[in-house]
Amino acid sequence: MGERTAAQTTADEHIRPPDNRPLRIAVDGSAASGKSTIGRRLAERLGYAFLDTGVMYRAVTHAALERELSPEDSAAIAELAQTLTIDVSLDCDGSGTRIAIDGSDVTSHLRSQPVEDAVSIVSRFVAVRDALVSRQREIAEQQPIVMAGRDIGTVVLPDADLKVYLDASIEERARRRYADFQAAGDEVSQEIVLEDIRRRDRIDSEREVSPLRPADDAVIIDTDGLSLDEVMARVIGLVGSAE
Ligand code: DC
Repeated sequence: MGERTAAQTTADEHIRPPDNRPLRIAVDGSAASGKSTIGRRLAERLGYAFLDTGVMYRAVTHAALERELSPEDSAAIAELAQTLTIDVSLDCDGSGTRIAIDGSDVTSHLRSQPVEDAVSIVSRFVAVRDALVSRQREIAEQQPIVMAGRDIGTVVLPDADLKVYLDASIEERARRRYADFQAAGDEVSQEIVLEDIRRRDRIDSEREVSPLRPADDAVIIDTDGLSLDEVMARVIGLVGSAE
């Protein structure tokens, strides 16, 4: 065997690049906490791949709705999660994680209202989580990565080299999500956005399997009152101190 770069070594070997930067970075947080935006920017800055794991849960949810399954039907959803072929194209250039199901790209459907309404319900099922978590771990073994989600630091990559947990008040998160909808030209009221985030927080943090919570060794950043650039600066500081 010839020489291997750090990117080709398996994560289990814990070999770091020459400057000793953290190779696997978990960015967790609640809905609209900024984890996907920060995770993507961090990955771009480091030249790492980025995986937004939320899109994988959204893809299973989309597939369930397409097949007219009830999101509450645990047996049917479990069977679906075990049989679907999910191809993940990692974000390596800031263009976003792309997902194909059984060969067809479903990325543009993953932010639809029916998916928004059902995804937290589908994500509660252990069979769904088992199927997706094992894919996420395989992906993390293949290259340096920033992975964003709810359970990356606690379950998917408990040995991640750096764990960040982004927090913000529900009012601040609703304001950000509402601004995103407005920028996209979507008609929705602020009250509905707030209610939806409240509902998702409740389901995500009260579920039995892998509930949303910071890992014991995560660095929690309260982003209330901080701009994206300020949050980025703090996260970059953490990368530096984890080296
Ligand atoms: O981050 P997001 O809004 O795209 O996530 C959508 C849903 O997916 C979220 O409500 C719960 C679920 N999810 C999860 O359970 N675990 C993850 N690692 C990522 C997302």
